[in-house]
Amino acid sequence: MHELRRAGLKAAQIMADHLEGVAERPVWQPVPGGELAWLTGQELPETGRALDELLEDAREHVLPYPMGNGHPRFFGWVNSPPNPAGVLVEPLAAALNPSCAGGDHAGPHLERAVVRWLAGLVGFPHPPGGGLLTSGASMATVICLATARQQAALAAGWDAREEGLSGRPPMVMYVTEEGHSCLHKAAQLLGLGARNVRTVPVDAAYRMDVRALRAMIAEDLDAGLRPFCVAGSAGTVNSGAVDPLDEIADVAAAYGLWFHVDGAYGALGVLADGAAPHYAGLERADSLALDPHKWLGVPVGCGCALLRDPSAARAAFSLVPSYLVDENGGDLGWFAEYGPEQTRPFRALKTWATLSHLGRSGVKRLVDHTTGMARTLGAMVEAAPDFELLAPVTTSITAFRHTPRADGLDELNRAIPVAVQARGNAFLTGTRLGGRDALRTCILHPDTTEQDLVVLLDEIRLAAKALL
Ligand SMILES: Cc1ncc(COP(=O)(O)O)c(C=O)c1O
Repeated sequence: MHELRRAGLKAAQIMADHLEGVAERPVWQPVPGGELAWLTGQELPETGRALDELLEDAREHVLPYPMGNGHPRFFGWVNSPPNPAGVLVEPLAAALNPSCAGGDHAGPHLERAVVRWLAGLVGFPHPPGGGLLTSGASMATVICLATARQQAALAAGWDAREEGLSGRPPMVMYVTEEGHSCLHKAAQLLGLGARNVRTVPVDAAYRMDVRALRAMIAEDLDAGLRPFCVAGSAGTVNSGAVDPLDEIADVAAAYGLWFHVDGAYGALGVLADGAAPHYAGLERADSLALDPHKWLGVPVGCGCALLRDPSAARAAFSLVPSYLVDENGGDLGWFAEYGPEQTRPFRALKTWATLSHLGRSGVKRLVDHTTGMARTLGAMVEAAPDFELLAPVTTSITAFRHTPRADGLDELNRAIPVAVQARGNAFLTGTRLGGRDALRTCILHPDTTEQDLVVLLDEIRLAAKALL
């Protein structure tokens, strides 16, 4: 224990040095060949090594090669810097090392509180037990869609868990082409079939075309299929668009469909000044995926599935073998009855610490700051003759492209992200939006400044010049 105490203090120093120095280092750099060989090729030591040596190795070979998302000029995908409070308590969660499958210990009890906090922050109804933490939104989506699938089967008088899906009319789900790939993966995993996931068209702002949704549902019903779920987005990954949730909720209610909302990235955007009207209808969803490891900066991985009726998730997942029967489980039972995971890590501690450290006002400040920065970037792009804004800025994502010439823009914009990344001064990623190759930034860092955005646009120009 003496060794752990000493090494623990040293680990804290290394962690602080790392976090303090992030902004001074390249945003990202490739892992050099020698280091790659060290990382991938080492042999398992025959005899155990001292804690101190392990820390030295981590300092030398691991910490210099981050993904980049701690840096204020990291704008790639949807990856936030870690909140310091979340970082701080990670070793404590590991020291306890519980399984939060359920039971009467701190982990599951704290999870009840943070799930309630998350629902409250975005104005989602929260009955007791109305959600659980997951590895991320992909797993939250599996839980929500499996719940929807079982509810649809039960409503039609059969049991999908017992019987499987064969011999039944295909269940059809509706999502726009801007819907996240995790919705498709979940549908495929659940045996619904990729061909039964309909792509609903979008409007000019990349939001679901609800008239088209109605028409598609009617057509599928006529064909004898079973529409069962519509998945809206509260913050798409490409442009941050928020679907017209209230109108989608009307359609879901009219046709008796499960209404799922993917708010993995963007649900917290409802807190930004003036944003609430865009999110009207979120509170009418049957299920909502919301990732604390995105906008909030809870260290990876932590997602959350929120459920209007938690008993529906329990009906889809509960399977308690005799060795796990818990007489003291209480009315809500164990978290493991609401999803596929049995042994579950203590995700609640880092989420509790992050939320407590920020407070409600801190979360709002973070969301306001980052959406404000995204709007500023949108305005800079619109004002520049060599850039074009491709979508309205609703959350903290800005979709645009570089237009220094008239043709070959797809090819150019496709090449820009990697070229910018290699320069090490900023990091952004690309996508396809509306049939065009686009650049996109997702701003999640509390310290990103307007000057960082100036640097980003200059970096894009310089990288493009080298490509032309
Ligand atoms: C809008 C959206 N939905 C879902 C996901 C999947 O979340 P996770 O990676 O936590 O599984 C992401 C990930 O970036 C996302 O941006």
